[in-house]
Amino acid sequence: MLKVLGISGSLRDASYNTSLLRAAGELFNRDEVEFSIYDGLKAVPPYDQDDDAAGAPDAVTRLRETVAAADAILFATPEYNSSVPGHLKNALDWVSRPIATNPLRNTPVAVVGASTGMFGAVWAQAELRKVAAAIGARVLEVELAVGHAHTRFDEQGRLTDESIREQLQAVVNVLVAETIASKERAAAA
Ligand SMILES: Cc1cc2nc3c(=O)[nH]c(=O)nc-3n(C[C@H](O)[C@H](O)[C@H](O)COP(=O)(O)O)c2cc1C
Repeated sequence: MLKVLGISGSLRDASYNTSLLRAAGELFNRDEVEFSIYDGLKAVPPYDQDDDAAGAPDAVTRLRETVAAADAILFATPEYNSSVPGHLKNALDWVSRPIATNPLRNTPVAVVGASTGMFGAVWAQAELRKVAAAIGARVLEVELAVGHAHTRFDEQGRLTDESIREQLQAVVNVLVAETIASKERAAAA
């Protein structure tokens, strides 16, 4: 069984990005993949290297352990002022240390995003890919930009746009295929 962890860059209850992850969760083959969405990002404090050296806070330990237990990560990020939301970047800064042994290293990562603007968080996605690659993740060449997000979900947060669902399925398929290939490479090494 593969473990795929979804991380939403939005903390709000009715987040389109979290809804997008929930929609993705329905597209994995349940016999093959266990998918869960991380729920502890809001508890992660601002990065402080002194705190890290003194022993990371519990919220950070949980985050690091959950990332370490995942075979792959699917991020869905909003765009805040043309970039990654600060709390998501902050969480990745915690995850990235110590850099040589951080739990994202060599982990397959796919990034999608939704925004209420027309471009679907493309700049935030690009920056998140850059950051994840800098940390050592295996960032996949996939993209899904959900623009005008308020028109793609119903009031319960269910994805109603079939074209987006097809594109999301393609992202899920690439992520699963790469994760299997990556595990096979690791087992052969
Ligand atoms: C602080 C802030 C900055 C934002 N900046 C952008 C932006 O640069 N580009 C954009 O398309 N939308 C921007 N938005 C609108 C978001 O796309 C919109 O709030 C979206 O619903 C956030 O994703 P969520 O539904 O997952 O929370 C911004 C929203 C906030 C709160």
